Amino acid sequence: MITLTEEQFKRFQALIYKHSGIRLDDRKQTLLRSRLQRRLRQIDMDDVDQYYRIVTTPNRRDELQALIDVVTTNETSFFRTESHFQWFSDSFLMDAIRDGKKGLRQKSLRLWSAACSVGAEPYTLLFCMHEKRAVLDGWNIEILASDLSTDTLATAQSGRFKKRLIDGLDDKQTKRFFREIEGFQPEYEVRPEFAEKIDFFQHNLMDRLRKPPMDCIFLRNVLIYFDDVSKQKVIANIAETLVPGGYLVIGPSEGIYGLDNPLTKISTFLYQKPPIEKT
Ligand SMILES: C[S@@+](CC[C@H](N)C(=O)[O-])C[C@H]1O[C@@H](n2cnc3c(N)ncnc32)[C@H](O)[C@@H]1O
Repeated sequence: MITLTEEQFKRFQALIYKHSGIRLDDRKQTLLRSRLQRRLRQIDMDDVDQYYRIVTTPNRRDELQALIDVVTTNETSFFRTESHFQWFSDSFLMDAIRDGKKGLRQKSLRLWSAACSVGAEPYTLLFCMHEKRAVLDGWNIEILASDLSTDTLATAQSGRFKKRLIDGLDDKQTKRFFREIEGFQPEYEVRPEFAEKIDFFQHNLMDRLRKPPMDCIFLRNVLIYFDDVSKQKVIANIAETLVPGGYLVIGPSEGIYGLDNPLTKISTFLYQKPPIEKT
């Protein structure tokens, strides 16, 4: 096991914060040590100071990215916190469909999974919409999904997942959405009708998203890694990216109280950007 002095920890802590907004507080020393160890082993190195010099060399962004990849926690699963997807299917989608029918809105939706990890979240949104495909016929739907970690995005794009990610699904859902790829450790691949329907890209939540605004953003289980300064930046960026009346879904244990938040709280997990008042 490598050793990590207090001073080395502080330097990596500051570097990671600068490039991701992730605050590894002082209790995370063991975690950082084991994640660094993992990366150093991969590149056959054992000198922490030398590694720090590499990741701070301007033309070694690749290694800085590799560090970010090992440091981020990418835990996720399909239909994680199912009640959020129930709200999405039964309220958000049904309201949009009703308003679309009445001509009160355009028949188009832009959705963004803003810290998508290996993609379980945006694929779950896609599956929810698949269940409503009869009433969504003629709609133009775009699902965008991003993460800071390029490793996770590569898995997301492959559409192939380990069994534990789909453990929450029943047999019917598993068969409907996936094809089993047999092997020593079986994997599950999304069925061809779901492949290439999601626009995956790398994005740092600390930056503004320069894309047309979204009707609904899922930003779950990521704010917990940020301090208030980072959270504030992310919330401002997210609010800017929502259409008036658009929704933000956050994770179950993510407080955004006490922040300067232009969004209105609807429930424990749901926020809305104020709609434009009609005069
Ligand atoms: C625990 S996963 C959450 C995945 C999914 N949203 C869910 O709830 O299942 C957190 C993800 O946030 C990503 N992340 C951390 N900091 C980020 C940042 N500054 N910008 C974008 N993504 C970030 C990590 O790479 C990781 O994949």
